[in-house]
Amino acid sequence: MTHKARVAEIAPDHYAISIHVPEFNLRFNHFLIKDDEPLLFHTGMKQMFPIVREAVARVIDPAMLRWISFSHFEADECGALNEWLALAPRAEPVCGLVGALVSVNDFAVRPARVLAHDEILKTGNYRLRFRQTPHVPHNWEAGLLFEEVTRTLLCSDLFSHGGDVEPVTESDLVDRAKCALIEGQKGPLANAYPYTSSTEAVLQGLADLQPKQLAIMHGSAFRGDAGSALRDLAATMREVLGPGMGSASP
Ligand SMILES: [Fe+2]
Ligand SMILES: [Fe+2]
Repeated sequence: MTHKARVAEIAPDHYAISIHVPEFNLRFNHFLIKDDEPLLFHTGMKQMFPIVREAVARVIDPAMLRWISFSHFEADECGALNEWLALAPRAEPVCGLVGALVSVNDFAVRPARVLAHDEILKTGNYRLRFRQTPHVPHNWEAGLLFEEVTRTLLCSDLFSHGGDVEPVTESDLVDRAKCALIEGQKGPLANAYPYTSSTEAVLQGLADLQPKQLAIMHGSAFRGDAGSALRDLAATMREVLGPGMGSASP
């Protein structure tokens, strides 16, 4: 992989390290919070590690990373976790209890710091609230972090959209996300986003945090009324994936 990462500050001390993969026409974003105890959200895939490491080094010494977090156990979220743990001797994985018990504490070379629902992790100037969000965006162990000072929601695969897009947008992203959801249901990777009996409540709970930024893993970050965007996404997911709609044929 020869791609070079783009680094953009989407909020004070919050950097999006973004790699566009032409084969998928999709951006993979990794978020670095520069603080006394720097935190990386999404390690990236193992094969992206040298590229992400070089980009992190433009902002901080990568060996100083203290916390490594991610939403759920997939290669783009945490495939390079052990590479980061080897590079940064003080770094610890951060996730919820299910993630630690089911995957991370077996996979990782050091055990996870487990956060309870709504527990706060302080990194210095910034405060990250953990939300356990089962199956949102997907996987049993899914969780998200909300940085309270800048009101940035690290929202993983929610609002995913393709293209070699801009680092940050203030225009409505729900249309882009809706198109991607509809297209996704037609293709070989359909059913990526389960719609469960708790999906609506989880999204409403995230909207109630009143984020001002969405740090989106695939696509542009969003700046604006992110609470409204999350409520609109909930309605869109119900429409596209909800009861009677969500099962694409294998
Ligand atoms: Fe995912
Ligand atoms: Fe992803």
